[in-house]
Amino acid sequence: MVTSVSAMQRLAKSWQRKGVRVGFVPTMGYLHAGHLSLVKRARQIVGKQGVVVVSIYVNPTQFAPTEDLSRYPRDLDGDKKLCREAGVDIIFVPASKEMYPPEGGGFSTYVVEENLSKSMEGESRPTHFRGVTTVVAKLFNIVLPEVAVFGAKDFQQAAVVQQMVHDLNFPLKIVVVPTHREPDGLAMSSRNKYLSLEERPQALALSRAIQQAQRLVHHSKRPIAAEKLQTTLAKLISEHPAARIDYIAFFDPQTLRPLEKVSRGVQMALAVFIGKTRLIDNAKL
Ligand code: PAJ
Repeated sequence: MVTSVSAMQRLAKSWQRKGVRVGFVPTMGYLHAGHLSLVKRARQIVGKQGVVVVSIYVNPTQFAPTEDLSRYPRDLDGDKKLCREAGVDIIFVPASKEMYPPEGGGFSTYVVEENLSKSMEGESRPTHFRGVTTVVAKLFNIVLPEVAVFGAKDFQQAAVVQQMVHDLNFPLKIVVVPTHREPDGLAMSSRNKYLSLEERPQALALSRAIQQAQRLVHHSKRPIAAEKLQTTLAKLISEHPAARIDYIAFFDPQTLRPLEKVSRGVQMALAVFIGKTRLIDNAKL
């Protein structure tokens, strides 16, 4: 485990000098099988001779003051064990006072993507993506990877990070891995831990809504009006008493622009509160 930024960067530079390939999986920890599928992909890409780095850092700048930063689930010992079993070479666990030093000049530079980050998650959580792009840019500069692996679970995040890499000429490739699900369809997420026994079955509202949208779009000869589909899905979701919809969006998977007509190939994303827990999911229709 490496905890200091300078030690991590020294290591990364030595790999670079020796031509060692580096695959990187940034996470906030409390790892599950979804995270591990990213690790597996990173290993496939860099091979046995390469190194796979996983960062574990609950990044404060991507949480709003009202959000769950302090109670975000943590289990460093469990994470270490999972990483060992998955063949991770280095776990990078930086301290906040190194990532955002309060002293010695402090911290005052942020990376902001100004297009793809505005809708959906960006609308509901206005400071979220600024925190994500900033910490991911920092992590890329510290770990110096050739490839960084992200999950399709956070579809908009992956798109925003891709755009940042393109715009700021980061010399690396972003690879996106499909969403890993529980056997009943719930997208794996560290936040699923918040769900009570009564809430857990109701969390299927999200994947059920996606499946229903897929069925309707596949069986319809014509495109369906987005508003009509939203109403139909809202009704289905409201059958789960703990569920409260934040948004249901239909959009172009490249530009993330909202679409009024929904047909095959359109991307759908939704955010739904199950009790106090805010869950997100998405899929191609
Ligand atoms: P975190 O939520 O820990 O997720 C880390 C990575 O795992 C992200 O790329 C996410 O999309 C992916 N992931 C999470 N659940 C997944 C699932 N069920 N299937 C496939 N991939 C999944 O996303 C973050 O952390 C942070 O915003 C971060 C990028 C680390 C910046 O702080």
